[in-house]
Amino acid sequence: MKNYKVGIIGATGMVGQRLITLLSEHPWFHIEVLAASGRSAGKTYEEAVSGRWAMEAPIPEAVKGMTVLDAEKDAEGIASVVDFVFCAINMDKAATKALEEKYAKLECPVMSNNSANRGVSDVPMIIPEINPEHMEVVETQKKRLGTKRGFISVKSNCSIQSYVPALHPLMKFGITKVLACTYQAISGAGKNFERWPEMVDNLIPYIGGEEEKSENEPLKIWGNIENGEIVNAGSPAITTQCLRVPVSDGHTAAVFVSFENKPSAEEIKELWKDYKGEPQLLGLPSAPNQFLSYFEEPDRPQAKLDRNLEKGMGVSIGRLRPDSQYDYKFVSLSHNTLRGAAGGNVLMAELYAAKGYFD
Ligand SMILES: NC(=O)c1ccc[n+]([C@@H]2O[C@H](COP(=O)([O-])OP(=O)(O)OC[C@H]3O[C@@H](n4cnc5c(N)ncnc54)[C@H](OP(=O)(O)O)[C@@H]3O)[C@@H](O)[C@H]2O)c1
Repeated sequence: MKNYKVGIIGATGMVGQRLITLLSEHPWFHIEVLAASGRSAGKTYEEAVSGRWAMEAPIPEAVKGMTVLDAEKDAEGIASVVDFVFCAINMDKAATKALEEKYAKLECPVMSNNSANRGVSDVPMIIPEINPEHMEVVETQKKRLGTKRGFISVKSNCSIQSYVPALHPLMKFGITKVLACTYQAISGAGKNFERWPEMVDNLIPYIGGEEEKSENEPLKIWGNIENGEIVNAGSPAITTQCLRVPVSDGHTAAVFVSFENKPSAEEIKELWKDYKGEPQLLGLPSAPNQFLSYFEEPDRPQAKLDRNLEKGMGVSIGRLRPDSQYDYKFVSLSHNTLRGAAGGNVLMAELYAAKGYFD
């Protein structure tokens, strides 16, 4: 596999820091450029994240002394020296959309963590194990943007990655309705307990915009391609409640599901155990060996014990049992800044690299 030079836009943030730790030893991707807002531009990376480095591992030596560039003002220079960029920024939607399109139009593919472009029908929203076929709408997008190699691809919201992977292998039984309550970690808001002390011993029953994303994004993931664009699936009916809980990392979902053709619990567990997606078949560097793991213990999965399963790229499931209102209920968990953000983003980029989209 060829080596690729990459830039990280939003390198100083929570997801950006995760990207740095994941990419510093990546076999295919080499960090060439770091960029953030004008507040960080001109500082060394170490200075820019001083007092807010939130990873357990120390800042990798190779990036400490790199000068952080301005993602907006230095865009031309950045796009000219990298093969593609990862993007994880906290700006309003319109500004994020404009910045991502700017890089794409500079012929620099954008692997995005942001929500601004998720609703666009020719922008693939990829969970690599689930809908790699959606990558093909990039060709329609390139025509719209007038580019040869520049395009935007997004990963989905972190909340849905705790329950959509568990539901996906069961789609063949005709899922009719889903109720999911998510219990989301504070790193999902770019925070830790030091920076958000109000979250200690607390629960906040509101995460702005999260329920809308949690109900709509699965329908794009399960959508069909028509005339080169993604048309959202019409079912299942999904309703959610998203709560912020005092957990550092790991989003948990309590899920209720009904089917047209109800499978047995054994069939469901077997499908989870056997499920493999394209990342496993291609042997991508960040692919978990086992995407979905079922725990028989009644008190699993637990955020603290299980979020790092398969280096944070596996999804843990437990407590599958019949329900009085729905056919079944279960609990599932994924690491929100690994599988749900930076790790999922890197795995998506590996899929594009393996299929030649960066060449
Ligand atoms: N945290 C998660 O679990 C998670 C999961 C999925 C998706 N996401 C998405 O990923 C994105 C980043 O989230 P985060 O949690 O990493 O946020 P964060 O910790 O607040 O970091 C935000 C980053 O954006 C940069 N930024 C802010 N304004 C900018 C500007 N005008 N121009 C260029 N860069 C600018 C910041 O740079 P400075 O340091 O210079 O201010 C920083 O690098 C968001 O869209 C979020 O919704 C996050």
